[in-house]
Amino acid sequence: MGRVAAAGAVLVALVVLGAPPAAAADLSGVFQQMVKFECYFINGTEKVRYVLRYISNREEYAMFDSDVGHYMGFTPYGEKQAQCWNSDPARLEYRSAEVDRYCRHNYELASPFLVGRRGERGAERVPSDPALGV
Ligand SMILES: *[C@@H]1O[C@H](CO)[C@@H](O)[C@H](O)[C@H]1NC(C)=O
Repeated sequence: MGRVAAAGAVLVALVVLGAPPAAAADLSGVFQQMVKFECYFINGTEKVRYVLRYISNREEYAMFDSDVGHYMGFTPYGEKQAQCWNSDPARLEYRSAEVDRYCRHNYELASPFLVGRRGERGAERVPSDPALGV
């Protein structure tokens, strides 16, 4: 029985480097928006958990967890977003279905790269490991 995770990330970084001469003193910096998709597999695809994380400037402000079934906010902004997203049943249904549409669908493709989450042994190639009985 292997507990493994696969993750994907979408990273949007907006960098303000050059600025018009007149505003050069106050226009430089960066903000970073990340959305991370995680799939946790327990005993192959028998039990699957999907987690979607929203991160702004390295701070996770909201997440969706398929085990919970709704969004959770971790900052005032995140709580507001989560409340808004949770009020849309179609959105919750869409996210809940990601365990099949996204995780199970990509399991075979991703299995050579799955990362073991127990111990520190590193990546395990789950489907071909006879000790795991898969
Ligand atoms: C693992 O999943 C298979 C079916 O995919 C099931 O037959 C077996 O009982 C499961 N093993 C455990 C330890 O849950």
